[in-house]
Order: sequence, then structure tokens, then C-alpha cells
Amino acid sequence: MSREPQENLIEKLVSLCKRRGFIYPGSEIYGGLAGTWDYGPLGIELKNNIRDVWWRFFVRSRCDMYGIDSAILMNPKVWEASGHVGGFSDPMVECKKCKRRFRTDQLPEMSDLKSEKRSDLCPECGGKLGEARQFNMMFKTHVGPVEDATSSSYLRPETAQGMFVNFKNIIDSFHPKLPFGIAQIGKAFRNEIAPRDFLFRAREFEIMEFEYFVRKEEWERHFDYWQSEMMRWIDTIGIARKNVHEVKVPEGELAHYSKRTTDLYFDFPFGQKELYGLAYRTDFDLKNHSIISRQKLEYSEDGGEPITPHVIEPTFGLDRTVLAVLTSAYTEDEMGGEKRVFLKLKPSIAPVKAAVFPLLKNKPELVKKANEVFDLLRAEIDGVAFDDNGNIGKRYRRQDEIGTPFCITIDFDSLKQNDVTVRARDTGKQERVTITELTDYIEKRLSL
Ligand code: GAP
Repeated sequence: MSREPQENLIEKLVSLCKRRGFIYPGSEIYGGLAGTWDYGPLGIELKNNIRDVWWRFFVRSRCDMYGIDSAILMNPKVWEASGHVGGFSDPMVECKKCKRRFRTDQLPEMSDLKSEKRSDLCPECGGKLGEARQFNMMFKTHVGPVEDATSSSYLRPETAQGMFVNFKNIIDSFHPKLPFGIAQIGKAFRNEIAPRDFLFRAREFEIMEFEYFVRKEEWERHFDYWQSEMMRWIDTIGIARKNVHEVKVPEGELAHYSKRTTDLYFDFPFGQKELYGLAYRTDFDLKNHSIISRQKLEYSEDGGEPITPHVIEPTFGLDRTVLAVLTSAYTEDEMGGEKRVFLKLKPSIAPVKAAVFPLLKNKPELVKKANEVFDLLRAEIDGVAFDDNGNIGKRYRRQDEIGTPFCITIDFDSLKQNDVTVRARDTGKQERVTITELTDYIEKRLSL
């Protein structure tokens, strides 16, 4: 089995995703909209499966986590308190000749300079670049019919603030004891200066994250614990652990709210880049929201002294997870003397779990039996497909390419013996399984 040379891999993934209905460029018939992507029927199944596993792993399976789904539009004061109005910006330069804009920190990479010094020439047209200035990445909009300063708001650039503004609600409704967390998964929007690298840097994307509230003196212990849980998640979802690197962010480069951050980098086909982040946000957010909202955002246990909890925040880009999962799963090998491409996805997140085939499409008794098996499986398992197009070899290749873990063939023996052939994606090994045991057989193997 061979890993694809990294530089070709991204083109192959983009092409497979488009051809097989995983991911399309956004607004494609109009020439696209930079930094937007649309998930197709298989892509949304994969993304939803990853989202569901995350929710089970970090929320439902625990007693200390409270899930929410807060509004994307928030009172603009939220973004003053969070520091995003003042500080959520990237340094940007504009070319005086072609007017293209670039992120200053990406310039050496873009112009292939080996030195740390950035070029003052445009990597696109060679024109002179202007002075660097700060560019706020929040998308501004207006709420209501009047477009003036009093109606302006923003599309949220992170989901975290939804958790902080609901801190008091959760305390009042559930009376949790420290430590506890508030989690959510949802869309975020950033007007990235240079969206690029497929799903990696988009302008609209999804974040899965939680704020874990702890006592100040215990933050380090919780930070270490969540770092190891993040690695356990990486194994669970099928991201190649050997390609994940823990990188401590130097003090001078920390986000405005963080006292310590460890990023998890992944070997994407276009280089080693940030996949996830783990930040110690101190009491920065709760304190600032208390001041600006004039609400007490505190915690007290059994009538004791009120305290402002400190926060550990593990954050996971959902689209970057999809990309890391696809990168890890993409495999080429040879089977039966033929080259094949397959996605070695964990069965738990594969968009199609099992595909049912009648051996021959023009034999009504085989088609009838195959339909019975199809209905039987569909009643119990989500993501079962039926395929009678082309020969069996071609059907296998089609299912391999989208990562279907099991192919089930109904042949003439099935009519006599009431059994089927189950073929496993990764090894090509085939097993006879009786139809009465089939659902159980597949279900047992789907949780892997
Ligand atoms: N609440 C903290 C926070 O938002 P972040 O590192 O700015 O932290 C969270 O973003 C995660 O969202 C990142 O770790 C990354 O996985 C993902 N992400 C950030 N910007 C992105 C973009 N432009 N396109 C796709 N995913 C992005």
C-alpha cells in the first residue's frame, strides 16, 4: 500500500470530492465565491457523522458537559467585550499596481523566499506592496431595516462567545458544580484575506468547541487532561496520529485572550498547519462580559464566596477535521492486479456503511432477493446503498473510492442457502454470512 506523494494528494482529494459528491466549490455555476464550499450528499454524511461522534465523545458521554446551540447573530457588545472589535485582525498589505491583498505573515511562503524577511514586491504581478495595516476579519451586517451605526452587528467569528453569554443561564437552570463545561458546534465566519488550501482556510466554516470552567489554581491539571483527551479523539476519528504534532505557541504570539496555548498541527498535503487549538483563556471572557453587561457572571458553591472561574478551551475546526480525515484515509494499492483508490475511513464515520449488489442485474430472482436484503438492512442501519450497475469489480471500485466498509453480493447460492458474500474494503477478503445474521454482523463492525 502506498501513500500518495503529498504534493499531488490535494489535487486528487479535491477531484475525488467533487466527482463523487463529497464537496463542491461554493456557488460554482457563477464562477464560485472564494473561501466557500458546499457539501454534497456523501460529504454531508461524513461531516454529520464526525459531528455526531464528537458530540457523543465530548458531551453526551459525560456528566459535566452542557450542550447549547446559540444564535449566530449576537448583540454587538459581545464582540467589544470579547476583544474581537479591537483585536481580531490580521496584518495585510495591498499591491499598489494590481490591488490584490495579502496577509503579511504569508508573504515569504507565497514568494518562496527562504529568509524570514517579507518581500515588498507583489507575488502575483511584481508590483510594489504598500504599508502593512490591520484588517479586521469580522463580517459586518445590519440587523433590522435601518442601516446605520446603531443597527450594525457581526456574523460570529467563533462559537465560544455563545458559551460565555449563556454561563449564567446554565448556572441558574442546572446548578452545576465546578469543573464543568459548555459546548457547542456551529458555523463561524471570518473574512480571511487569503482563503486557500481547499477546506483549510475558508470564510465560512464550522467549529466544535467547549469552554471548561475550573478553579484558577487547578487550570494546569485540566489543561493537561484535555490535551490527552484531544489526542484520544484524534485516534477515535481516524486521523493519523503520527502526522499530528503538539506545538506550544510562544508567548509573543498568543491570542489576545490566552495565557497558554498548545496547537495541534497536522501534516496536511500542503504542509504542516494548525488543526486544533487548546487555550487557557483565564477569566478574561467572563470578567469582560461582567463589566460590559453589568451582570454578575460568578459561581459560588453551597453559599460560599463567589468566584469567577477560569477557562480551558479545546477547539476543533470541523472542516479541517474532514480534511485531515480524508488525507489520512486516502490510500492507493493494487488488488487483483489492478490499481485501486480507496478511503480507509473508520466504519463509524463512512457515509455509506454497506452496499448491496445482485450478482447479475438481468436475473429477476437475484434482484428480488437483493432488494429483500437491502430492505432488511435499511430498517436497522443508516447509510445502506443498492447498486446493480456494471460488473461486480466496478461496483467494488466505486464503493472503495467513497470508503464503504462492506459490499454484500447476492448470488445463485444465496437463493438456495439464504446467505450472502460480505467483502471487506481494506483487505478484499470475502466471507459467507447467513441473511439472518447479516444485520448483527454489520452492526458489530460499524462501531470500530
Ligand atoms: N474559540 C477559539 C477559536 O475560535 P481559532 O483557533 O481561531 O480558535 C478554532 O479557531 C478552529 O477553527 C481552529 O483550530 C481551526 O481548526 C478552525 N479554523 C480557524 N480558521 C479557519 C478557517 N479560516 N477555515 C477553516 N477552519 C478554520
